Amino acid sequence: MKAKKSLSASHITQYFSPNFQVSSQAKIHCFACLDSTNTWLKDNGECGDVCIAEQQTAGRGRRGKQWLSPNVENIYCSVKWCFKSVPAHLSLLSLVVGLSIVKALEKIGLTEHGVKWPNDIFWHQQKMGGVLIEAISSSSKKYEQQVVIGFGLNVNMPESAGKLIDQPWVSLNNVLGVTVNRHQLLAYVLESLTQELRNFEAFNIQQFQHDWQCWDVLKGKEVRVLQEQQEGSGIVEGIDGQGRIAIKLISGEVKYYTSAEIRLKK
Ligand code: BTN
Repeated sequence: MKAKKSLSASHITQYFSPNFQVSSQAKIHCFACLDSTNTWLKDNGECGDVCIAEQQTAGRGRRGKQWLSPNVENIYCSVKWCFKSVPAHLSLLSLVVGLSIVKALEKIGLTEHGVKWPNDIFWHQQKMGGVLIEAISSSSKKYEQQVVIGFGLNVNMPESAGKLIDQPWVSLNNVLGVTVNRHQLLAYVLESLTQELRNFEAFNIQQFQHDWQCWDVLKGKEVRVLQEQQEGSGIVEGIDGQGRIAIKLISGEVKYYTSAEIRLKK
């Protein structure tokens, strides 16, 4: 059997479009193993740098969950991004990141996938990837807002590791029926993500809401909403200009949630 090619910066950049750079000085740091690529970039690296690991021993998901990160199968990647001033639409950043990933997945031939609010990547009601954005506290005079944007994508999650995941999940290779070139996929995601980040300060909400509607796997679906020990049900109407999800509850009232766990009803 052919040995799997480990991820490396030069193999990724060969798939970038001509003249594309993450940013002029940015480096792509590749590691065999880290605790978490988000943690590494919070403590190291410069604005625009990318950190990739083949394995994470303490990969983090949202809501304090663990992100299972077995060796040389999937994608675990983080990008450090710095904004000169706090962007007016910062609350939409994580949704924008999710959109940039689904667009990159379309480029490698995936169909029938989308975003599940706020920023899960879904295929047929199963999770394929997720995004974790963390703010960096810094006293930088040059940049008012610094963030680490981490994303994980199940490219070839082994069944043995997948047994430990507490929700329906799916891997890209299984869906496409081929071995996906992780270098190419990473190049597409980094290119798509960087373009969105560069434009983020001059953000067009109408365009964003239109894009979101095209990729939203929850719109019109019946869901359970879990928030601080409380549970409700309703139909998803979409998102508002602040990135809150709008849900029409059984009572007829439309409620907007900034943070909640949304589960699709079967
Ligand atoms: C989620 O859906 O809960 C978010 C998952 C984010 C996982 C990625 S993997 C790369 C980066 N490093 C981490 O520790 N977490 C993110």
